[in-house]
Amino acid sequence: MSLTVQPAWFRGVTARAAGAIGRLISSVWETSRARRSRPLLYIAVGAVAGAAVLLMVSSLLGAAVETWSRGDVQLRARIVLLSARDQIEQLARDPSPEAATKLQALFTRLITDERLQAVGICDPDGKMRTATDTMPARLLCASIRRSKAETTVPIRIDSQDLLVSAFPLAEGKEGHVVIVHDLTYAKARSDHAQTFIMVTTIIAALLASGAVAVAMLMLVRNWRAALRATLDDLRAGRLEGAGPVTTLPAELREALDQYDLVRRTIDGIHIDWTPDTLQRALGSELPGAEVLVVSNREPYIHNHTDAGITVQLPASGLVSAIEPVIRACGGTWIAHGSGSADRDSVDAADRIAVPPDAPSYTLRRIWLTDEEQDGYYYGFANEGMWPLCHIAFVRPTFREADWRYYREVNQKFADAVVREAKTHDPIVLVQDYHFALLPRMVRKHLPKATIITFWHIPWPNAETFGICPWKEEIIEGLLGSSILGFHTNFHCNNFFETIDRFVESRIDRERRSITLGGQETMVRAYPISIEWPPSALAGQAPVPACRAAVRQRFGLGEGVRVGIGIERFDYTKGILDRLHGVDVLLSRHPEWRGAVTFIQAAAPTRSKIASYRALQDEAVALAEEINNRYRTPDWQPLILSIRHHQPPEVFELFRAADFCVVSSLHDGMNLVAKEFVAARDDERGVLVLSTFAGASRELAEALIVNPYHAHDMAEAIHRALMMPVDEQEARMRQMRALVRTRNVYRWAGQMLLDAAQLRRREGIERLAAANLPAVPRLLGRRLA
Ligand code: G6P
Repeated sequence: MSLTVQPAWFRGVTARAAGAIGRLISSVWETSRARRSRPLLYIAVGAVAGAAVLLMVSSLLGAAVETWSRGDVQLRARIVLLSARDQIEQLARDPSPEAATKLQALFTRLITDERLQAVGICDPDGKMRTATDTMPARLLCASIRRSKAETTVPIRIDSQDLLVSAFPLAEGKEGHVVIVHDLTYAKARSDHAQTFIMVTTIIAALLASGAVAVAMLMLVRNWRAALRATLDDLRAGRLEGAGPVTTLPAELREALDQYDLVRRTIDGIHIDWTPDTLQRALGSELPGAEVLVVSNREPYIHNHTDAGITVQLPASGLVSAIEPVIRACGGTWIAHGSGSADRDSVDAADRIAVPPDAPSYTLRRIWLTDEEQDGYYYGFANEGMWPLCHIAFVRPTFREADWRYYREVNQKFADAVVREAKTHDPIVLVQDYHFALLPRMVRKHLPKATIITFWHIPWPNAETFGICPWKEEIIEGLLGSSILGFHTNFHCNNFFETIDRFVESRIDRERRSITLGGQETMVRAYPISIEWPPSALAGQAPVPACRAAVRQRFGLGEGVRVGIGIERFDYTKGILDRLHGVDVLLSRHPEWRGAVTFIQAAAPTRSKIASYRALQDEAVALAEEINNRYRTPDWQPLILSIRHHQPPEVFELFRAADFCVVSSLHDGMNLVAKEFVAARDDERGVLVLSTFAGASRELAEALIVNPYHAHDMAEAIHRALMMPVDEQEARMRQMRALVRTRNVYRWAGQMLLDAAQLRRREGIERLAAANLPAVPRLLGRRLA
């Protein structure tokens, strides 16, 4: 007889399952690593974990059912014995053959119960005396003869699972009654229970997850549609109406943010963008790609000064956005060398490694003659395109000679791009309205380049753009780009409308693309932003110290509240309008006389142009006139600081301010608004923001104003000055969260990821074209 401890089947199944699960996990891990598809891995691990839990629960349940069945069998054996014990004992003591025959007959009657297999008597000397024919021959009495108490053991004989109960007669002195039960039914019961629990759990899980998925889908769809419509209405309202101080209620803003979060999670995986993320995205999505940036303004200007050669960081939203990006990606930045010491700082190939303190990319300088500078930069770009694209009611001027220089300088920069490129398919990031013709010029020599052009200023409606005498050339030049980016969808739509009106091309609004002469350009909105955390914040003193420093520098009294405005002296910024706003504030709310001073820091810019000089003169005269009206011996309402301010100085002013005014008459985005928010890590201060700046689409917790309405501006400033601290904090916290996540790395990252997708598609199209000439366009459309 062989005695085997049960249940062997359980150990077998568990071992097999563990092996299979191990193999499955390692194969999914490998696949997900190879394809970088972490979501697939998470789903697979979830599924495996779920299956393992299910297997475990059902096994435990099966084992419990089996134990319970055995207890049941044991109880039956006892009942059987009790019902016939007296008779058995009596017949067992009788040594006559008749008694043995009766005992045999009694045992045979007892085993009519289907689960009872055999009954017999073991002698005290370990031999089977009387037993039913069904008693297994290999069951040995020897192992039970010494037991004085009732025992039950599971045994396996000839692959049959049995339960043997032995009941001592006269404490074993007269032998043992042995009752053998067939355990097959107990196992069958446990298997049934296991199968049942597995099937019902799987069906219930499928039904539940199906129902939840359908409900979620419907909920999210309705929610998204409703919020999108609300958002559009609100935005449209602000664009057209621009009534008095308008700001979104906090609850709605919160809901919109949640919507944005869900949209980010639904539309794609939410990514926290940092220089590191950007580098990794570039490395994985565009491996080995060479990055070239082209802009007019250079990131570092070397000047001769009394203190020797000094480095200036220009006041340019474009530069402050692109610089952290190229620092993260590396590459070459091609720009006009405009500093008086620029030529003395470069090598023989006109290159210099920058940033000066920790070089991470190359700046390649291009030299322009005075004539080129006048025609291309001051003339066509800043007297033509700038006022054309900004609706600030300064008339654009178009001169034939300026246009010629614009074309020539675009060609000069395009040639430099081609020369600097070390690969046949670099990524060229073209910046702004100075280089509308360059994308097509570069495309001619580097047909496989991925050219991403970003237009940092607004794009006007078709009617306004129609003023430009060379509109077709400008458009055709831009449509040499692979991707053309604007800050907002509003500007993208204006661009589509302009193309529709002026050139023969294929516009695909579904794909948001335009095809001209076989070249397809994707037109997308990428709202620009700032680096986070901003480097100018590093090393800043705490806010009270900044306030004290600024008060001392400008001679402000202790209790005087401080407002700040910082930008280039540009007519699009609404500087005169905010001075008028302060004037109206002091006349409508005389309580602020002697109690608030507005500091306007403005960097002189494009001073060769008459409209810029006129603005500066007018601003100085207006400030003087307002000051004369209100000034007291120890106070004046307005202070103008007309010079270039380096970023740490700008951030100190931001931190010292009770409120900041950004009153652009028209602006693509306006990064000053975002920088003010970034500078306020104390979560205090109020932003007064023009509805005509792209930033107002994102920074809805600012006090949104119409800068053309002086009364509206005055009331917004009054409200800012009166705003309780908890409201300031709530608004600032919300805006900081937005700028932190929608930072400049996300801006660049989204463009580069779109470029990567485009490259992959072009690769497939080329492959298809090589294999089957008729297929590529169709395939291209399918892959979109
Ligand atoms: C705007 C333009 C930039 C320009 C900046 C400063 O932000 O979009 O291209 O660099 O103004 O102007 P400036 O003419 O001095 O470069």
